Amino acid sequence: MSAAPLHLGFILEEEYRNSRMPTAVTRALEGWGHHITLLEPRRALGDIDRTVAHGGFDAVVLRTVSGGPGLSLLQAFAASGVKTINAADAVTRVRDKMVMAASARAHGIPFPETYFVTDARLMEQIPEKRFPLVVKPSVGGFGRAVRLVQTREELAALDPDGRAPSYLVAQPWVANSGYDIKLYDTGQHIHAVRRHSSLLGGLDGEREPVPVTDAMRELAHRIGGAFGLDIHGADVVEGEEGWVVVDVNDFPSFGTIAEAPREVAATVVELARGNTKRRKSP
Ligand SMILES: Nc1ncnc2c1ncn2[C@@H]1O[C@H](COP(=O)(O)OP(=O)(O)OP(=O)(O)O)[C@@H](O)[C@H]1O
Ligand SMILES: [Mg+2]
Repeated sequence: MSAAPLHLGFILEEEYRNSRMPTAVTRALEGWGHHITLLEPRRALGDIDRTVAHGGFDAVVLRTVSGGPGLSLLQAFAASGVKTINAADAVTRVRDKMVMAASARAHGIPFPETYFVTDARLMEQIPEKRFPLVVKPSVGGFGRAVRLVQTREELAALDPDGRAPSYLVAQPWVANSGYDIKLYDTGQHIHAVRRHSSLLGGLDGEREPVPVTDAMRELAHRIGGAFGLDIHGADVVEGEEGWVVVDVNDFPSFGTIAEAPREVAATVVELARGNTKRRKSP
């Protein structure tokens, strides 16, 4: 390698210690001669002076877990002027599904109407014609507590569980075939996999790569631009009027895409060196 090796920090959430992502990315980077420091907020103190302000990182990377400690650390690095991947403010935009909905809709991305719900009983105020509803934690993930509510009568049976820090969001269910397309952007290429919806009992492992159409590619690029995310994934469903985005993730699993780790690693290098224009945060 001609350019000097980079010193990169990877904030590792406990949940991803044994996952392909981000481990395969750090392996690729080390294979190219770069230095990686793993920062594990559940195992070691985060030192504001030594690590955050003066750690000497060219960039710090996070694969976030909703509600995990990694995001605090990423934001601390960003506040200290350290480059973060993704940009910390872009990650914040997809953390809370209400903020996600507002960001998407403000940029003309097809995204369901979304109601912010602090107590399940408030959903009685949602017009009947909006049912069935998908109800989910405003800060959630892994398909946890995502429910389909067919009628107003079913609301009474719901646990009034909207409590800080995670409230609820409710969205009209976008009628679809029951299969999501997961769009992935490694920063190099767009990939797509098809997956049976977790809402209908689909399992995480069941993903098959599908060809990326021009419409999918264009939508993925628009999502990256709208949120300011350099690396991202989106869950999209095909409704009556075309693709609708129902979820955006800042650093997804990249499913079964074999080339994803090397592509993400290449994006990390380009961003850390400033060789590529960052997705502009809106
Ligand atoms: N408004 C909607 N209309 C139709 N289907 C939806 C809607 N919202 C969510 N879904 C379905 O439910 C799934 C899970 O919802 P969502 O992605 O918002 O939650 P999550 O906790 O991030 O889950 P996961 O980790 O499985 O992606 C989606 O992948 C999609 O199949
Ligand atoms: Mg999702």
